[in-house]
Amino acid sequence: MPVNIGLLGLGTVGGGTVNVLQRNADEITRRAGCEIVVTHASARNIQKQRICNTDTIQLSENPLEVVNNPDVAIIVELIGGDSLSKDLVLNAIANGKHIVTANKALIAKHGNEIFKAAQKQGVMVAFEAAVAGGIPIIKAIREGLAGNRIEWLAGIINGTGNFILTEMRDKGRDFSDVLAQAQRLGYAEADPTFDIEGIDAAHKLTILASIAFGIPLQFEKVFTEGITQITQEDVEFASELGYNIKHLGIARNTDKGVELRVHPTLIPKTQLLANVNGVMNAVLVQADAVGQTLYYGAGAGSEATASAVVADLLDVVRAMSADHKNRVPYLAFQSNALSDMPVLSASEMQTAYYLRMQVEDKVGVLSAISHILGHQEISIEALIQKEPKENETLVNLIIVTQKVLESNMLTALEEIEALSSIHGKVTYIRLEHL
Ligand code: NDP
Ligand code: HSE
Repeated sequence: MPVNIGLLGLGTVGGGTVNVLQRNADEITRRAGCEIVVTHASARNIQKQRICNTDTIQLSENPLEVVNNPDVAIIVELIGGDSLSKDLVLNAIANGKHIVTANKALIAKHGNEIFKAAQKQGVMVAFEAAVAGGIPIIKAIREGLAGNRIEWLAGIINGTGNFILTEMRDKGRDFSDVLAQAQRLGYAEADPTFDIEGIDAAHKLTILASIAFGIPLQFEKVFTEGITQITQEDVEFASELGYNIKHLGIARNTDKGVELRVHPTLIPKTQLLANVNGVMNAVLVQADAVGQTLYYGAGAGSEATASAVVADLLDVVRAMSADHKNRVPYLAFQSNALSDMPVLSASEMQTAYYLRMQVEDKVGVLSAISHILGHQEISIEALIQKEPKENETLVNLIIVTQKVLESNMLTALEEIEALSSIHGKVTYIRLEHL
């Protein structure tokens, strides 16, 4: 007997999912032990031209029709957002249907509630495609590393942002041009500010941290900074110093609590993560038994993401006959065994920093800055001062510091900006040796 799928959304990922299921139908049937067929689907406008063949699919502009259809066993939610999608998913769960979704906003913000409802109904919620596109990172952490204590993970988990930073560095392209291209290629979120302001990466980090450390989903506690403040100048200076700038999500299990942060980061060019370019994503995981493992692949795009959606479908189909108490828990740890470890505040974070400031080219400036940094116990790792351009009196001073407590750095920055010889704000970007 085939398993019938109801698809909500026929856009980039929905279309890719139909294409992969149709093209690889034989292989998928051999793996699942039965056919997996999209029988029903919904979209805002069913007249729109699609990237997939919908001839055999019953289409509707009302997603509730799909959700309530008794012939459908699994709902694949690929609409996005966290309002309508939440209602539809909870409705489908109440109807006893299993869920597959690529929607990280939905899981990061409402996952705790959704999993509770699913557990009550004995249905599954699978969300591999929600983190790092086609990379099976959830499966890797939740199952492959299940014997380990995970110490930290760091990842490039937004394809759009990485695509923009790579094009800026390699081709000197303008930020907004590259973003427009990422939108055309189907990489960006419906609201691309989610990509460039770090919100999308924060959604994904929330999920990764929960499955890594066994803590509830706590999106609101992630320290989040995007890439909009990164200038071509900083990309070039960082490169000169031997670093690439990447947008990283970092989750660390410390003695005092969990560090959850998403921000642009300088990484030494010699490290693997610094060389993950374009739309590719990568997640580096440090675990006590296995050591470091790295997961790399396409972080966005139609079929790359569909690959994860279809893998989830196979998992769900295979597990449909299993006792739900023995299935892999949603957040890797049993739901009654989640830890209440606190999430640390931003001021408690510790990283090294890249600082760039416009200073007057005169004696004493450097010693004033060094004095302030020294007073806050901040050691300088490297320093370069650029020659002033013709007819200009200000020069760019770039400093790389050693690891320091964020609160000390913020105090130092305030004092440096108050110096009369410093013009404007100090640009600061965090730096990690992973
Ligand atoms: P698209 O915008 O390409 O597709 C969204 C689909 O949902 C469209 O078919 C659209 O209909 C339909 N839709 C939108 N609003 C409504 C509504 N109010 N009622 C009914 N249908 C609606 O998005 P993507 O495919 O890119 O993304 C889908 C999900 O996958 C999102 O959660 C996204 O974050 C996630 N994701 C995306 C990745 C990517 O590379 N694009 C990668 C990983 C995850 P219509 O086509 O008629 O407008
Ligand atoms: N907009 C997201 C990105 C899609 O660029 O990474 C994949 O989650």
